[in-house]
Amino acid sequence: MMKKFVALMMSLMMILAAGCGAAPSGSSASPSSSLGDAAPTGEKLRVGVVQFMEHPSLDQIREACLAQLEARGYGADAVEFDYQNGSGDFANLTAISQKFAGDGCDMIIAIATPAAQAAAAVTSEIPIVFAAVTDPVDAGLVSDPQKPDRNLTGTSDAIPVDAIFQLAAEMTPDVKSFGFLYNAGEANSLSVIRQAKEYCDQNSIPYTEATVTNSSEVQQSALKLLGEADAIYVPIDNTVASAMPTLGSLCVENGKPCYVSADSMVLDGGLASVGVNYDDLGKQTADMAADILDGASVAETPVRVLEQFNQVVNEEVAAALGIQK
Ligand code: TRP
Repeated sequence: MMKKFVALMMSLMMILAAGCGAAPSGSSASPSSSLGDAAPTGEKLRVGVVQFMEHPSLDQIREACLAQLEARGYGADAVEFDYQNGSGDFANLTAISQKFAGDGCDMIIAIATPAAQAAAAVTSEIPIVFAAVTDPVDAGLVSDPQKPDRNLTGTSDAIPVDAIFQLAAEMTPDVKSFGFLYNAGEANSLSVIRQAKEYCDQNSIPYTEATVTNSSEVQQSALKLLGEADAIYVPIDNTVASAMPTLGSLCVENGKPCYVSADSMVLDGGLASVGVNYDDLGKQTADMAADILDGASVAETPVRVLEQFNQVVNEEVAAALGIQK
C-alpha cells in the first residue's frame, strides 16, 4: 500500500517537475490567432502532449503526428513539446492537464479519449486537439462534430462494428456466441460495445461480457469469457490493447478466435480486425493542430472522422486456429 503510494507520488512529482517546455518564465499563452507560422526565434511555442497510456497504436499516432507537425514547420526548433504519459491512470491525466494549463501551454494535444476528457475538464481556453477519440459526442467533448463549440476538436477513429462481425461470420462460421472484453471506464469502449450489442441483438447472436479496470485483470476476465463463449470480441479499448500479447496467446491456447478493432491488436496476437489507419490519423491530427497554430480557430476546424477501413488478419494466429481462407 505504502509502496504504491510512494510510486504514485513519485510519478506525480516527475510530472510536476517537467515543464511544458522551457519558455521564459512569465510568458503566457499567446492567442492562437496571432501565432503565425514563423514563431519569433527564442520564443518557442509550447505544446503539451498527453497520452492515456503507451501501447503500440497510441505510440504510432503520436509519432505520426509529431512527424507531420515537423513537416508543417512545427518541429522541435519551433515548438517546445512536453510529452507526458498518463500510464492508464485517470488521476495522472488530470494532474498532467492541470500542469499544462498552469504552464500556459499554447495548445494541448490529447491522445485517446480519457486524455481528451481530462484535458477538457481543466481548461476551456487552451485549444485542445484530440487524436483517436472514437466517439467525441458520447465522450462529451463536442455536441456537433461539424461545429466545435468549445476549445476542442480533433480526429475520430470510428469503428465499423458491423463489418467486424460480418468478417467473423465469414472466417469462423462455427462461432455462435461472443464474449466482450473491455474497460467500462473508457467511454470509447462503451460506445462501441453499445453498437456491438445492437448488432448481436438484431442478428440473434448471444453474448456475454467481462470488464476490467486495468491491464492486469485481462487474463482472468478473458479466461472467464473463454469458458462461456465461442469467440472474444474486443472494442477499441486501450486497457485491453495494452495486454493484447497475453490475451492473444490465451485465446490461441484455448483454440478460440479473438476479434479486435485495430491493426495493432492484430499484430499483437488478435485474429482479425477492421479499422482505420493510425498513421493517417496521426497525420490528420497534426494537420488540424498546424492549421490552428497557423491561426485558424477551433470553431472553423471540424472534427475529422476517418472513414477508410482496412481489414487485417494475423495469418499465424489463423493457421494456429486451423482457419482456412
Ligand atoms: N480510439 C481509442 C480511444 O478513443 C484510442 C485508440 C487508438 C486505441 N488506437 C487504438 C485503443 C488501438 C485500442 C487500440 O481512446
